[in-house]
Amino acid sequence: MISAEELRARSQGAMSLHIAFIGVVNGLFSALHRMGPASVAALAQETHLDAGYLQRWCDAAYAFSWLEKEGETYRLSEDGDLMRPEHPQSRMAAAVGTVLSAHMAERAAGLMRTGERPGEKVLAERETILPWFGAMLEHNFRRTFEEKIVPALPFFSEINARQGLAVDLGCGNGWYLRALLHQCAGLRGLGLDGFAENVRQATELAKAEGLGERLHFAEGDIHHFQLPEPADLIAMNRALHHVWEERGTLFTRLEQELRPGGALVIWEPAWPDDTQVLREPAYRGMAFQNLTEHVQGNHFLRPQEIADALAAAGLEPSIHPFGSDVVVLGRRRA
Ligand SMILES: C[S@@+](CC[C@H](N)C(=O)[O-])C[C@H]1O[C@@H](n2cnc3c(N)ncnc32)[C@H](O)[C@@H]1O
Repeated sequence: MISAEELRARSQGAMSLHIAFIGVVNGLFSALHRMGPASVAALAQETHLDAGYLQRWCDAAYAFSWLEKEGETYRLSEDGDLMRPEHPQSRMAAAVGTVLSAHMAERAAGLMRTGERPGEKVLAERETILPWFGAMLEHNFRRTFEEKIVPALPFFSEINARQGLAVDLGCGNGWYLRALLHQCAGLRGLGLDGFAENVRQATELAKAEGLGERLHFAEGDIHHFQLPEPADLIAMNRALHHVWEERGTLFTRLEQELRPGGALVIWEPAWPDDTQVLREPAYRGMAFQNLTEHVQGNHFLRPQEIADALAAAGLEPSIHPFGSDVVVLGRRRA
C-alpha cells in the first residue's frame, strides 16, 4: 500500500512542476538568470508581469527550491537554473509535460461521460501551453535521435552519400530535420505540418541554426501534399498514430514518393504486446498518454502492426527497438 507520506510526496512533486511551468512560460527563470539577485519589484519591471502574482510565485518557487532568498531578493537555485529553456541541459520539458498532462486528464475525465473524442484541438486549448509543445518534444527526443538512433542505423549515413531530400511529415518545430542535416551535410530537408505555429517556429529555428538554405518548412496536410522531387527519406515521428486509420492509402502513396532504395522511417512509442510491461517506469507515461491520445481520436501502435502495414504497401520493413520507443524502416526496393 502507498503510505500517506508517499502520496504527499507525489502530490508535492506535481505542485513543484506546476510552479516551474509558470516560471518557464513567463520567462521568469531566464529573467532571473539575466538579472542575478532581484526584488519582486525589479522582476516585475523586467518582465512586465503583475507584482502581486510575482510575489506569490517567488514565495512558492522558494518553497519548492527553484529559488534562493536573501532578505527581499530572490535568485535562481541550481535546479532553477536548469529550468531555463536556453540551458543546454534544460529540464523545462518535465514542467511543460506535467501541466499538459493535468489539462488532458481533466478533459478525459469529462469526455469519458459522453464518449466524445474531439481530436487534436484539445491540445491547443491552453494558450500558455501551446507555444511550448514543439520545444518540449525537442528537449525530450533530440538527444536520443542524435546519440542513439542515427549512430545505430546505417541507413542515415547511406542516404547522406546520396545527397538527396529528407522529408518530415508532421514535423512539429522541425527539430528532427535540423538534427539530421547537422549530421548529414549532403542532405536537403523539407518539413510539413498541419499547424501554422509549428511551421513558423520551425522556419525561424532552422534559420537560427544556420540551415535556412538547405531546410524548408510548409503548412499542409499529410494526406494531400506534393513533393518537388522524389525523397530518399520520409520520416514520421510520433505522427503515424495521428493518421493510422488512413495508413493503407497513405503508405501506398508514400512508397511512390520514395526514390528506389529510399525509406519511410517511422518513430513511435512501442505499445507492448504484453501490457504487464506498462507497470515499468519507462512505460507508465505511455499508458497515461494512450488515454490522452484517445481524446484526440488516436491510439498507440504495436511495432509489428506498423511493420505489417509497411509490407502491405510493398515496402521492406525492419524493426529497431530503442527502449520503450521503436523505429520501423520501410524500404523501397532498389
Ligand atoms: C506528437 S506531434 C510530433 C511532432 C514532431 N514530429 C516531433 O517529433 O516533435 C504530431 C505532429 O503531427 C502533426 N499532424 C498530425 N496530423 C497531421 C496531418 N494530417 N497533417 C499534417 N500534420 C499533422 C501535428 O500538427 C503535430 O505537430
